[in-house]
Amino acid sequence: MKASIHKLYVGTLVSIVVLVTAYLSYHGFSYYNTSLEERFYHPAHKMLKPSGVMGHGLGIVGTLLILIGVFGYMIRKRNKSLGRVGVLKYWLEFHIFLCTLGPIMVLFHTAFKFGGIVSLSFWSMVAVVASGIIGRFIYNQIPRTIQGRELSLQEIRDNKNEISEKIAEALPDNAKEIEELIRARTKSDDNSIKTTISNLWNSWNEDRIKIGKIKNLLKSKINNSKVRIELIKLLKKEIAIERRIERLKVMQQLFRYWHIAHLPFAIIMLVIMVVHVIVTLSFGYKWIF
Ligand code: HEM
Ligand code: HEM
Repeated sequence: MKASIHKLYVGTLVSIVVLVTAYLSYHGFSYYNTSLEERFYHPAHKMLKPSGVMGHGLGIVGTLLILIGVFGYMIRKRNKSLGRVGVLKYWLEFHIFLCTLGPIMVLFHTAFKFGGIVSLSFWSMVAVVASGIIGRFIYNQIPRTIQGRELSLQEIRDNKNEISEKIAEALPDNAKEIEELIRARTKSDDNSIKTTISNLWNSWNEDRIKIGKIKNLLKSKINNSKVRIELIKLLKKEIAIERRIERLKVMQQLFRYWHIAHLPFAIIMLVIMVVHVIVTLSFGYKWIF
């Protein structure tokens, strides 16, 4: 997938989530804002209550999206013969899309009323989504091929060296101070999880300030703005890879722990959701069928 098409793909997915959320909020604002005791008399009650045509439908469609998002990704990831059906990176993006849109629909299905044992399923869903966001961050810290395979340290270093060579070629001769700036950075020798996490913000801030300074210095040295922008892109890439190399071991360890924490919440959510569906069916709620 070309970079521009990938941008369009991600942009479309994000727009769908934003538009659906905006529509559901706007459409049901007055109903969801009414107190639980008075909702019964609200004109939209029949439609938007969890067993109403729209409320119930949101629960069913939202749950289906989550199931497709979870099992689609798991099957694609484990089944090598599906290697030709899109690369894993895009499937993970689709997993995130379906598993964000689905929970939003389920949220509107509950009509913001979290009662009974099914609320455990709801809060587990919230926990999985929240941990998903953290997991996505850690996942991004571990360099991979587009097929999702983790790169070895040597491959990452080779990658970085390639970028460094391009930067050296592109930098003008009178740019000693820029070279010094590029090399200067605070690096902790303590590679514990605690120190790495607490240093995240500081190193991000340090890199941001450094890039700002380099941008200013380059303005007086390279007139061609296209060349300057390309060079800054390369510098950003190099700085990011260096940080990833620094944190690689910790992030790999964190990702293993993350998997152990993420899965149980997903299982609790799915099991209680199945019980909830059986209970509602046995009470005779049939939606439109
Ligand atoms: C993760 C998925 C789901 C969650 C977290 C969830 C959560 C909830 C919650 C919190 C309520 C309100 C309970 C109350 O009134 O106090 C509810 C009601 C309801 N849900 Fe779900 N739900 C999910 C999926 C589904 C699905 C797939 C169906 C249908 C097949 C469904 C059918 C219903 C019905 C019919 C009601 C109304 C029950 C009543 O008024 O007594 N739900 N759900
Ligand atoms: C109800 C919502 C969600 C459920 C039930 C869910 C479930 C799962 C499950 C079961 C896995 C393990 C897949 C495997 O190892 O094969 C997984 C992986 C993952 N999920 Fe989710 N997820 C949800 C939402 C999210 C969200 C919102 C994000 C990001 C913002 C996210 C990011 C990830 C990441 C990064 C992985 C790791 C992929 C890998 O190791 O290959 N998830 N999810």
